[in-house]
Amino acid sequence: MSVIAEYCPEIKVTVVDVNKDKINSWNNMDCSKLPVYEKGLDLLIKKNRNKNLFFTTDIKKSISEADIVFISVNTPTKKRGLGAGYASDLKWIESSARMVSEFACGHTIVVEKSTVPVRTAELIKKILTNSINNDSNKTFSVLSSPEFLAEGTAIKDLENPDRVLIGGEDQSAIKQLSFLYQKWIPKEKIFVTNLWSSELSKLTANAFLAQRISSINAISSLCEPTGADIKEVAKAIGADKRIGEKFLNAGPGFGGSCFQKDLLNIIYLCRYYGLEEVANYWEQVVLLNEWQKKRISKLIIESFFGTVAFKKLVILGFAFKSNTNDTRESPAIAISKELIENGANLYIHDPQVSEVQLNDILNEENFISNRDNCEGSWTYTNDLDRAFRNADAIIIITEWSEYLNINWSEMSKNMRQPAWVFDTRGIINESDLFGTNINFWKVGKGFLESS
Ligand SMILES: NC(=O)c1ccc[n+]([C@@H]2O[C@H](COP(=O)([O-])OP(=O)(O)OC[C@H]3O[C@@H](n4cnc5c(N)ncnc54)[C@H](O)[C@@H]3O)[C@@H](O)[C@H]2O)c1
Repeated sequence: MSVIAEYCPEIKVTVVDVNKDKINSWNNMDCSKLPVYEKGLDLLIKKNRNKNLFFTTDIKKSISEADIVFISVNTPTKKRGLGAGYASDLKWIESSARMVSEFACGHTIVVEKSTVPVRTAELIKKILTNSINNDSNKTFSVLSSPEFLAEGTAIKDLENPDRVLIGGEDQSAIKQLSFLYQKWIPKEKIFVTNLWSSELSKLTANAFLAQRISSINAISSLCEPTGADIKEVAKAIGADKRIGEKFLNAGPGFGGSCFQKDLLNIIYLCRYYGLEEVANYWEQVVLLNEWQKKRISKLIIESFFGTVAFKKLVILGFAFKSNTNDTRESPAIAISKELIENGANLYIHDPQVSEVQLNDILNEENFISNRDNCEGSWTYTNDLDRAFRNADAIIIITEWSEYLNINWSEMSKNMRQPAWVFDTRGIINESDLFGTNINFWKVGKGFLESS
């Protein structure tokens, strides 16, 4: 919405949320305290806030004034009830549609921006149609326009998208939304489809991206015992234009709020339509991702002869990828929890993730509490020198550029022997560790000599 406000100064953009704290944070004058960290977002907000970009909890007024409403609420995997563990929970979509149906005035275009199961637009239409029956002055058009941005590069992706999708039937509504996008996106990048193709394209894009990560991670595990190097393999296969070079970085597994949720959603839909083999095919992508995290924590523990109890292990990076503060489904969570359960004392560093976020994740009710410096504990740190002192191992989980500048020969002097570096992102050159006493494991390359 900040990008729409930037490129359409004549349009008033109002962001509403039921969460008052979030809206307060979006209105915080100190833009370093915005709820989301994305490069360039603070500048857009500073420039346009309270000019044509507003953040408010006044949902009734905002909807009643709107010509177009974008529904961008959360659609997480259901935790209980029918389809639990797979299907998307549409209760927030439903409540948003009910609010729009109640408060809208005149003609309103409702755009489904959240990622949703195929045919969710039908649910939205049904809710909206009911209110039309009560009030003949209200009319609605429902469009699907899923969001393809990637966290970490969100502003860039929104300013210069590969494509934008508009799914729908009402040609006039499609034209209006298309005009809005055309303020900064070339017309040929705006694809018009039917509603269901648009909804399914978003799920399919994420399924393909997740599948690519699980594929390269699967091959990384085959590289390690065979002497192949995943970087070389990725370069070799990526040169084939049919495969392409992007998204071929092996790592600790995919995270973020979308990939797993959208895969589970596809699996659920396939089973719903009786496509068991197709469901099993996509389910393997999720299982491989779980396995990659488990195999990494296992090999760390096995490197210490089966016990990490009371070992000081430094976790570098907790966000699910660099340039974001998002920790949802981050592989760091599963790996850290496994190590804490095995008695390790973790020191966790991340340039953008706060101690409060770690608290919410690592001290949640059904997990171990923070028992600082006892067996199985975690400590937040923003001081790498202190963290490395007497550390037994450094585990790189997020590929922050900060970690490329670590002086390993200096740092290794403060570590306890035998010292280890586990590079789950493959960002450290073996040559940087030459001459140190550090034992080294790198994803897709395996255990390496450092001296
Ligand atoms: N985060 C991403 O990178 C990304 C990328 C593409 C698509 N998506 C999709 O966009 C949607 C939102 O994702 P997110 O990461 O921003 O989720 P989020 O959980 O961070 O934010 C959703 C917000 O919606 C608010 N909300 C819920 N019900 C509401 C209602 N009835 N009225 C007003 N506000 C309400 C919540 O309070 C919350 O602040 C999801 O469907 C997701 O799959 C996300």
